[in-house]
Amino acid sequence: MSILVTGGAGFIGTHTIVELQNANYDVIVVDNLSNSNKKSLSRVEEITKKPIKFYKVDILNKRALDKIFDNEKIDCVMHFAGLKAVGESVKKPLLYYKNNISGTLTLLEVMQNHNVKNIIFSSSATVYGTPKTIPITEECEKGKCTNPYGWTKSMLEQILTDIYNADNSWNIVLLRYFNPIGAHPTGLIGEDPSGIPNNLMPYITQVAIGKRDELGVFGNDYDTPDGTGVRDYIHVVDLATGHVKALQKIKENAGLCIYNLGTGKGYSVLDLVHNFEKANNVHIPYSIKPRRAGDIATCYASAEKAKKELGWTTKLDIEDMCKDAFNWQIKNPNGYK
Ligand code: NAD
Ligand code: UFG
Repeated sequence: MSILVTGGAGFIGTHTIVELQNANYDVIVVDNLSNSNKKSLSRVEEITKKPIKFYKVDILNKRALDKIFDNEKIDCVMHFAGLKAVGESVKKPLLYYKNNISGTLTLLEVMQNHNVKNIIFSSSATVYGTPKTIPITEECEKGKCTNPYGWTKSMLEQILTDIYNADNSWNIVLLRYFNPIGAHPTGLIGEDPSGIPNNLMPYITQVAIGKRDELGVFGNDYDTPDGTGVRDYIHVVDLATGHVKALQKIKENAGLCIYNLGTGKGYSVLDLVHNFEKANNVHIPYSIKPRRAGDIATCYASAEKAKKELGWTTKLDIEDMCKDAFNWQIKNPNGYK
């Protein structure tokens, strides 16, 4: 079976390709490298010892996509390509709607024209907005997103649902990721943010290697055990295996399916800091800052549906996440550069 991976040079895409190649799937990658480096794919090849077919193509470029679908045998698309910086999306909404929505519409048109009707889509826990119940099950209503990035995920879920409702021969799996962190245990691939990291773990690892002075903790007055925000951190390798398991649903012609990919456990910002310190024997200086606009107090998944229907559970714990994230950062202090 041959999988077209859009955004395959990025953080989650690279880790997923490793698992796909290890499970003997053929992989074709499309990425415009707007937020990644081609070196990441050589590193994947180093891990799996298998070649990757790569096209440096923007998914907005219909002609180029058409050509790829003309020339390659594609059974399923894993669609990771998209812009993902929450703060930037507030400042540049048009860029986010154009890239994520128009890009996906172009991809879907090309898929339909080539009768490729199998897609696994990278969605996000952000579609739940401020969750009404915790842990969050897939039955929880989608909520109001607090930024354009989140709306692109929510809208794309709706677009994909409408496409399925109009034509039941599509198989569509919507995967709602919680907070992916960590890196491949080899330290060859990992998260490579450009500039100042927006997310917690890459910020911590940069403090740990002395690249940044201290971590700012955004608020300690939330209604949580220690007052800091609680999230469901999931090792990116576990997240990647979730995608391989999701292919089962494509093979079974299961139609439209939605799964949370999380661990079911919540850790606060300070829990993560303390676990990181313990796992790596380092000190992380921090100070309390005001709350960050748009953040919620608590967000963690019920992972029961994916366990029951996909036979998928996470295998790596918070210590593995902290160790692997630090190992990647130490071995690649400047990312792939
Ligand atoms: P990433 O930025 O590392 O990877 C995304 C890749 O898509 C990059 O390599 C980028 O160059 C490519 N890309 C962007 N726009 C493109 C376009 N128009 N044409 C071709 N390629 C394009 O991000 P990631 O963390 O690996 O995330 C992958 C997907 O998962 C994204 O859709 C993201 O929104 C979603 N997601 C990520 C998180 C997270 O915390 N990392 C959480 C929930 C959902
Ligand atoms: N935080 C800090 N200091 C920092 C960075 C983050 O205290 O420097 C806190 C945040 O306030 C939050 C927690 O750490 O309480 C996690 O923040 P992240 O930015 O790492 O992650 P988010 O939960 O805000 O969002 C992430 C992705 C979104 C995605 C969401 C759910 O950035 O794209 O997970 O999947 F939608």
